[in-house]
Amino acid sequence: MGSVRVLQKPEMVSYDDIHDIIVSAHASLDNGITLNSTKLTGSDLSRIIGPSGICLVAYLDNRLAGTASICWEQIDRWGYHEIFGTVRFLAVEPWARGKGIGTALMREVISICSAQNRKSILSTVYNNKVAKALYRKNNYIPIRHYGEGHYCVTMAHGVEKSRCFFFSITSFLYSRAKHMIRR
Ligand SMILES: CC(C)(COP(=O)(O)OP(=O)(O)OC[C@H]1O[C@@H](n2cnc3c(N)ncnc32)[C@H](O)[C@@H]1OP(=O)(O)O)[C@@H](O)C(=O)NCCC(=O)NCCS
Repeated sequence: MGSVRVLQKPEMVSYDDIHDIIVSAHASLDNGITLNSTKLTGSDLSRIIGPSGICLVAYLDNRLAGTASICWEQIDRWGYHEIFGTVRFLAVEPWARGKGIGTALMREVISICSAQNRKSILSTVYNNKVAKALYRKNNYIPIRHYGEGHYCVTMAHGVEKSRCFFFSITSFLYSRAKHMIRR
C-alpha cells in the first residue's frame, strides 16, 4: 500500500509545486468536470491561502502526491456567525489514488479545525462522486446546492445535522426548479 505522510507545506515545496499537483489531479476528471483552481497560478494559490491559512502536502513513499488547504473564513449563513475552516484545493496525483491519501489529508484538515474548535466547510461539483464519497465518509454533510451547469454542493463538518437538513433540502429544490424553468 505504501507509506502515507501528511504535513504542513515545508519551505522546499513551492506553491508552483502545489499548482502542478492540482493541474495534474484535475486533468483526469471524468464527466467533463473542470474546476477553476486549475486556472490559478502558484502565486494566486499563495495569496488565496494567505498567511493565516494552512497548506498541507501528502507524500506517498516520500514522493509528493497530494495537497489540501484550509482558509479561515467568517461564515454568516445557516444561522452560524463564526470562523470556519474552508477546505480548498484538495488534489491527489492520479498515480497515487485509491491509497488513502485523500482520506489522510481530510483527517488532518478535521484534526486542525477541531483543535481550533472550528467547523469546516467545502464545495464540490455535484457529479464529482469520488470527492463526495470521500467527504461523506469523513462526516461532511450537504448544506447547500447551487450553481448552473456544473451544479455544486457545499458540505460541512461539525454542524448540526437537523438545522442543515432544512437548508440542504430547500436549496436543492430551489436550484432544481430554477434549472428546469431555464431549460
Ligand atoms: C477526490 C480525491 C482527492 C480522492 O483521493 P484518493 O487519495 O484517491 O482518496 P482515498 O484513497 O483516500 O479514498 C477515499 C474515498 O474516496 C472514495 N473513492 C476513491 N476512489 C474512488 C473511486 N474510483 N470511485 C468511487 N469512490 C472512490 C471512496 O469513498 C474512498 O473511500 P474507501 O476507500 O474507504 O471506499 C482524488 O480522486 C482527486 O484528486 N480527484 C481529483 C481532484 C478533486 O476532485 N478534488 C476535489 C475537488 S472538490
